[in-house]
Amino acid sequence: HRTAAVIPAAGRGVRLGPGAPKALRALGGTPMLVHAVRAMARSRAVSLVVVVAPPEGAAEVRLLLDEHTLPDRTEVLVVPGGETRQESVRAGLDALPADVTSVLVHDAARPLVPVDTVDSVVEALRAGAPAVVPGLPLADTVKEVGPGAPGRPEPVVATPERARLRAVQTPQGFDLPTLLRAHAEIALAGEGATDDAGMVERLGVTVVVVPGHDEAFKVTRPLDLVLAEAVLARRRA
Ligand code: C5P
Repeated sequence: HRTAAVIPAAGRGVRLGPGAPKALRALGGTPMLVHAVRAMARSRAVSLVVVVAPPEGAAEVRLLLDEHTLPDRTEVLVVPGGETRQESVRAGLDALPADVTSVLVHDAARPLVPVDTVDSVVEALRAGAPAVVPGLPLADTVKEVGPGAPGRPEPVVATPERARLRAVQTPQGFDLPTLLRAHAEIALAGEGATDDAGMVERLGVTVVVVPGHDEAFKVTRPLDLVLAEAVLARRRA
């Protein structure tokens, strides 16, 4: 029984503004991707990390990872990604050796996830859950909006009860055969998903939520970079 982590890092990160692919941007002087790989490697359960790189940047990513220190027990593979996050994750899963039974899928864009969050996901998998996501209650009330007239304010159609909602993060943990089946069946149906657990849910498999962490936030917009730098500075103080 071996647990591997797959890190999709092939996105361009357009919402962050112009510049290098998001995963290669520096945080505290170190590329975001290196932080993300270290965050997975810090867990004793993880002995293999598969990084899914931009197709044209795989060689550069390999060099970059070789330049940075990682725990000795961690093996790191780099494979080229695809057009969508889903295709990139699939490329990472296809690279896993046969002895891997569980997988954590972790966004490169969540570089600061604490090891305790990673370990709680692994623990729930070991306790028998086929799919596990870290999640947090929401501070904001969420509205569902309907299609409105072009150029007019959007009409609200529903307000889900906030106490029952969770904002989900990564790493998302899976029994590997279950995630492979989800990828095969959902891709066959031509459907997309914004996270891996969503695909597993569509198989009718129960996904469980363990507590997430504020520091597992996704670096998406410019303000998130400011927050990430502040979190790193506080850790180093
Ligand atoms: O775009 P979003 O923030 O949802 O991306 C989440 C993660 O998926 C990022 O780490 C990004 O690099 C990755 N991704 C990918 N391949 C794509 C698109 C996104 O690996 N084609």
